[in-house]
Amino acid sequence: MKDKFSGKFIVLDGPDGCGKSTHSKLLIQWLKEQGVSTIGFRDPGNTDIGEKIRHILLNPEYDAMDTRTELLLYMAARAQLWAEKIAPALEANQCVVLDRWLSSTCAYQGCAGGFGMEKVIKIATDCLERIWPDLTIILNVDLKTASGRLKSQLDRMEQKGDSYHQRVREGFLQLAKQQENFLVVDAAADIETVHKKILQLISETSLI
Ligand code: TMP
Repeated sequence: MKDKFSGKFIVLDGPDGCGKSTHSKLLIQWLKEQGVSTIGFRDPGNTDIGEKIRHILLNPEYDAMDTRTELLLYMAARAQLWAEKIAPALEANQCVVLDRWLSSTCAYQGCAGGFGMEKVIKIATDCLERIWPDLTIILNVDLKTASGRLKSQLDRMEQKGDSYHQRVREGFLQLAKQQENFLVVDAAADIETVHKKILQLISETSLI
């Protein structure tokens, strides 16, 4: 296990309410139990600049924010997270687990926001040092189950409505079909069932 996961970059992603934050924590805990030096981050966030950008992005006061502004702010927070935290951790041969990444920009701004996934990937290619992780796990959940898991106080992105979030989900599934290093997990079940499925997938996959 140690050899398989050391220096690997793994992302958990999916629609709001898919459970990726819970499952990132559980995965990190499991990797540590296997003796793998592991560190987790959330995107956007985990740097002084990134947390400030996150605050702007999720603040419902800024309901006038354009999709292009969103896209560039998410990308800026990501570039900083890479430079300050992810790159040094991978260089130190740690396993890095990310709660969201470029896949979210593809699904939210690219697909649901209408900017276009190809154009998102092109911008990322030009401004990020590395765009795709070794493995991305998409937690797939239907809209009803997902919205039932959200807190009552919705942030600016969560407030965008059902048809936007339906397109987000479709965007993730489309991306997972296009990219080779993506796996999709049915995340509608209870936490333990989904966690076991994730462990089974990452233990068996030949992608890493
Ligand atoms: P979360 O990390 O708490 O899920 O919140 C981040 C929110 O930002 C979530 O609604 C998804 C959204 N988002 C984008 O729209 N584009 C992105 O590139 C990323 C990383 C997140």
